[in-house]
Amino acid sequence: KIAIIDFGSQYGQLIARRVREQKVLSAIYPPSVSAEELQGENIAGIILSGGPSSVYDKNAPSCDEKLFDLGVPVLGICYGMQIAGKILGADIRPAESREYGRTDLHVSESSGLLAGVPEKTTVWMSHGDQVNQLNDDFITLAQTPTCPYAAVKYSKKPFYGVQFHPEVTHTPDGSEMLKNFLYQICGCKGDWLIGDIAEEMIAQLKDELKGENVICGLSGGVDSSVVAAILHKAIGERLHCIFVDNGLLRENEREGVEKTFCGHFSVNLRVVDWSEQFLSGLEGVTDPQKKRKIIGAEFIEAFKSEAEKIENAKFLAQGTLYPDVIESGSKDGNLAANIKLHHNVGGLPEELGFGLVEPLRDLFKDEVRLLGEYLGLPEDMVWRHPFPGPGLAVRIIGDITKEKLRIVRQADEILIDEIKAAGLYRKCSQTLAVLLPVKNVGVMGDDRSYESVIAIRSVDTSDFMTADFSRIPYDTLGIISNRIINEVRGVNRVVYDISSKPPATIEWE
Ligand code: XMP
Repeated sequence: KIAIIDFGSQYGQLIARRVREQKVLSAIYPPSVSAEELQGENIAGIILSGGPSSVYDKNAPSCDEKLFDLGVPVLGICYGMQIAGKILGADIRPAESREYGRTDLHVSESSGLLAGVPEKTTVWMSHGDQVNQLNDDFITLAQTPTCPYAAVKYSKKPFYGVQFHPEVTHTPDGSEMLKNFLYQICGCKGDWLIGDIAEEMIAQLKDELKGENVICGLSGGVDSSVVAAILHKAIGERLHCIFVDNGLLRENEREGVEKTFCGHFSVNLRVVDWSEQFLSGLEGVTDPQKKRKIIGAEFIEAFKSEAEKIENAKFLAQGTLYPDVIESGSKDGNLAANIKLHHNVGGLPEELGFGLVEPLRDLFKDEVRLLGEYLGLPEDMVWRHPFPGPGLAVRIIGDITKEKLRIVRQADEILIDEIKAAGLYRKCSQTLAVLLPVKNVGVMGDDRSYESVIAIRSVDTSDFMTADFSRIPYDTLGIISNRIINEVRGVNRVVYDISSKPPATIEWE
């Protein structure tokens, strides 16, 4: 196992994820963990993460100096390198120029940590302080134009330090470096699999939820489906799933959830049809945020009405992923900076007075998908594009009626069918159809038509914070446009959205 000591960087979990990617088990520890505690845990190596502090800040977190005497290799990244440097006798100073972003790395020793890394490569930097002077026990492995000690090795103990961030994708050779550290330097084997995460999680949930009933809201999306599948394995009958039909779902969405969870998994599933309440609440409402508020409030009502019928349930399971946790800022006092308040976390449990179960809290989306496959969820569900909680309501610009829902629902079905038929579904991150609030003139047969416009949007993104429009081939767009115009009554024009995010968002509302 690799111990990651987290000094509160946004990158702590990212390091854990990169280690998992190399099929090596890792665990994250706070800076206060002692060498003694780690000694008992069969540690093959230690990674000290980056962090927002300066080593000279009054409350700067440090680590146990005896970590360097455990005889296992230690890799310090950015702040982790500076802390280690300070302990091992280097001089750390504010750099002449703070360095953020990509920079060129010149490798002088391409063996060990940097084996297989080209002499010239790019790395991602994000730091104010840096190592200013090293004692003779350090060997320099690489430098950048402004950072003379960008990668170093300590000769007396197995310590390596890098000032840049090998864990981010902007450091193209970063995974090679981590692989070298894990396999060559720490001697890890790389035989750890996603199934191990699943089995560990199941055992832990079994233990934590002994005798408890747990409620899980299913949305039809990947995250909540994986949560339900894993909890079902852990606590079986004591899992109670609730699916709210808000009338704003895609074609066959409710049926798909019923088929998977009742048929395949035989989960206790309660479907609440609250569509009339949602639709009457939304009548005449055009403002997007108002729509979201109404939908949020109705959802809580619907969920509550069903949850109350389940006796002795004290816990609510949610499909919170690591990026949601980071974007919502830290609740549990870890040191990561508060970046953005996200719409998916919070609200419901406070309102209903439940304890939270969040088994996916440390995972990233692609890992959740692998977990879903391991648990036997249908491929269709595991690889599904994200779909917003407010559903088709934010894909109808303006007020919502049943007729408009029919149009956007049919257009969406055709669009997704054709994207799948063209083999593009997994390549695109999210694909959607939007009904615009304008009528336009067309010709149908010999007649003038005056009908609606459907906008198609498809984006490629890894984090949904920034996105580019998908380069769908014209021929595929042509087929989609033909089918929508021919098959969806009330539509005579289809347009393709070619904006990137930012400044445009992914959804139109
Ligand atoms: P935007 O439109 O902000 O979308 O670029 C980013 C991602 O978030 C989804 N999204 C939502 N999800 N409730 C949700 O659960 C919402 O109100 C909401 N608004 C946007 C969107 O589909 C995309 O995946």
